[in-house]
Amino acid sequence: MRPYTFIDTNAMSWQDTDTPGLYTKPLSYDPENGTRTAFQCIDPKRGYKPPHCAHYHHMDEELLVIKGTFTFDGKNCLGPKSYCFHPAETVHGFRSRIDDEAWFLSRCSKELDFCLHPEAEGETPYSLTGAQDPRGVTVLADPEAWAWVDVKDDSGAVTLQRCLLSKHPETGEGSMLVRFMPGWQSPHGDHFHTVYEELFVLEGAMENDGGDVYSAGAYLFKPPLTVQSCPKSASGALAYINFCGKLDFVPAAKLGEYAN
Ligand SMILES: [Fe+2]
Repeated sequence: MRPYTFIDTNAMSWQDTDTPGLYTKPLSYDPENGTRTAFQCIDPKRGYKPPHCAHYHHMDEELLVIKGTFTFDGKNCLGPKSYCFHPAETVHGFRSRIDDEAWFLSRCSKELDFCLHPEAEGETPYSLTGAQDPRGVTVLADPEAWAWVDVKDDSGAVTLQRCLLSKHPETGEGSMLVRFMPGWQSPHGDHFHTVYEELFVLEGAMENDGGDVYSAGAYLFKPPLTVQSCPKSASGALAYINFCGKLDFVPAAKLGEYAN
């Protein structure tokens, strides 16, 4: 399991990689299974060349665009807040193209690999093995067109809105965008989850009773049983949240019952 991590990605420098024009900010990594999250930059003006043919990976690939635009298929133009999920062994990237520098968050379910597949059939993502992944391929280009769900308090006021991006129907593992309204405060007070939670603040800022401030660009990885000291957002915030199973809310006072 990845350890607790809190990073201000604005304060990090881009690191070179073996690929020209591809730069990275490593955020979290689990050496036991290769799971990793990274902030990636691709810049054609500094030598990045998109793959000339389709490709696939042996791990689930998930990305959320932060800046710039690019395309995998020549049809969907991905821009800020666009989201993709490609299950392992999904052939995709038939017409990859990028015109200018772009940034995206990249999540991999195992060690990253990259397999070119020039003999791809058609131009629609498909499984190389024929297996149907229950979570399925997801490409959401336009964030305004997605289904946002209001969450209201007892008075009927909308306190947050959430948009499910993708979720495994059996394990509950998935990702969502959450818009916290100004003045939002967790109704669960000090609490923890029994599953991990990963969070990247896209806009605004969040705080907690412990004095931590998570501004746009903040990244958090919270392993299971990480106590959160009453999260809140005075000014409002938009966050990308990933979770490994149903996000339960257990009062912090019960931590002793779970810690053994
Ligand atoms: Fe890919």
